[in-house]
Amino acid sequence: MPDKVAASLQKWHAFTAVTDGLVVGTASLSDHVVKSVFVHPDFQRRGVATRLMAAVESAAVANLVRRLDVQSSITAQPFYAKCGFVVVREETYGEERTIVMSKTISPTSE
Ligand SMILES: CC(C)(COP(=O)(O)OP(=O)(O)OC[C@H]1O[C@@H](n2cnc3c(N)ncnc32)[C@H](O)[C@@H]1OP(=O)(O)O)[C@@H](O)C(=O)NCCC(=O)NCCS
Repeated sequence: MPDKVAASLQKWHAFTAVTDGLVVGTASLSDHVVKSVFVHPDFQRRGVATRLMAAVESAAVANLVRRLDVQSSITAQPFYAKCGFVVVREETYGEERTIVMSKTISPTSE
């Protein structure tokens, strides 16, 4: 079991944005999938998520990941589009609609 946890942690990169000692944003990379991208409403539209995504992409490059996938909410779609993600397909879970988006990255795209 500890081996499984350790192996999982090697594939999971989590980042936080901290301002004045407060965590105001998070983002993580699990293998090639971008997850848990959230910025506190009081700190949105200030480039926090953009910087978190730069950290995610750096981790992806370091781990030889060449394509990032994300399951985006409707509201986050413009943000991911600005980051260079393109829509692959839409999925519906009950009443929740999500958009699968993808971005090809290269070692020089940072
Ligand atoms: C989506 C989210 C992570 C963006 O975080 P952020 O720190 O505000 O993003 P940034 O300031 O780095 O935005 C960069 C660019 O993305 C685009 N963008 C970001 N939020 C946007 C929005 N709500 N509507 C339209 N465009 C948006 C803009 O082009 C923005 O540049 P600009 O402010 O110069 O116009 C944040 O709004 C959030 O946490 N939303 C709620 C949770 C969520 O939906 N998470 C995604 C789960 S998949």
